[in-house]
Amino acid sequence: MEVTLTAIKADVGSIGGHLLPSKGLVARVKDVVAEQGKDFLCDHFVGHTGDDIAILMTHEGRAHCEAAHRLAWDAFKAGTKVAKAQGLYGAGQDLLKDAFSGNVRGLGPAVAELTFEERESEPFLLFTADKTEPGAYNLPLYLGFADPMYNSGLILSPSVGQGFTFVVMDVEHTHGDRRIELSTPEDAYDLAALLRDNGRFVVESISSRADGEQAAACSTTRLRNIAGKYVGKDDPILIVRTQKNFPATGEVLAPYGIGHLVAGFMRGSHTGPLMPVVAGTGVSFFDGPPIVSCLAFSMREGKLSEPADAFDHPYWDWVRTKVSQKAHDIRAQGFSGPAMLPYSDLEYGGIKERLKKLEARFTVEE
Ligand code: F6R
Ligand code: MG
Ligand code: MG
Repeated sequence: MEVTLTAIKADVGSIGGHLLPSKGLVARVKDVVAEQGKDFLCDHFVGHTGDDIAILMTHEGRAHCEAAHRLAWDAFKAGTKVAKAQGLYGAGQDLLKDAFSGNVRGLGPAVAELTFEERESEPFLLFTADKTEPGAYNLPLYLGFADPMYNSGLILSPSVGQGFTFVVMDVEHTHGDRRIELSTPEDAYDLAALLRDNGRFVVESISSRADGEQAAACSTTRLRNIAGKYVGKDDPILIVRTQKNFPATGEVLAPYGIGHLVAGFMRGSHTGPLMPVVAGTGVSFFDGPPIVSCLAFSMREGKLSEPADAFDHPYWDWVRTKVSQKAHDIRAQGFSGPAMLPYSDLEYGGIKERLKKLEARFTVEE
């Protein structure tokens, strides 16, 4: 059976600042998805990470399916009403346009979609991250799909060892979608040269070279490009199919043990380590640190198993302690040097205004 996974994520309001959505808000989104999806969805799941709500849908309508996109839009709109009634912070903040026009791409919410012929057993992972940007997945995807130090399947399994094709999007390009296709292992260094720049080059999809099947789909939304000004980070969503010709689940998860430094900590304007957390976790320390959760599913004829929380394990408790130390260390240096993002990525205009004001007070001695 050909099935499509559509995952759509948005921040439509949260408790106490940007911490997490209220139970009433999540319940309203769940109700709308269940009611409006009952005639065409095979199955669905609704969860949240930090202040973002994620809707996962399985259906036979292929990517860009209007009914699935409309459903998510309507659910987030209904959720926004609850957020407003409860006085939640940032009610409806990721819904940047007033009207739905057939597809939520370009309207604010983050979208990741994959269409494929379902395997006999179909394991996949749903990653959702908060207080960061789509490029936060660049390093873990590179290591999990292209580096034998993380993916031993690249040398142990003949099919995995044929490598993968990465589609990378230049998210700074605003007139049309600018993409490049690179295949590993032969293009591994070129790929690394692009993926080092998380703010500009983002992995959009990955496919197996053994059978051409798509393994991963990542959101590439840029709220700034849609709104024309900075309106917050683009908290990204990622789907990864695993096992057989794809990396094993554990190989995809392993790179999150690094707690690598990403953009989006405190006021969307600082660098911080990405902490793998249990699903439903909010943020706290300096409105962070940046967090990522991962739910593993199996699927048969579009019906989902219950999720298994991939980061709910004693190993990840140890990682969280390590990452907390890293978060503490970088925040301890406040605004200094790489702790704060470059001018172009700051969420607030205050620093530029200050510099402008100071221009007249500079003196130059020849
Ligand atoms: C939100 C974020 C937060 C806010 C901060 C101030 O994505 O990163 O750190 O920037 O809570 O929010 P405002 O300016 O809305 O009071
Ligand atoms: Mg927010
Ligand atoms: Mg968020």
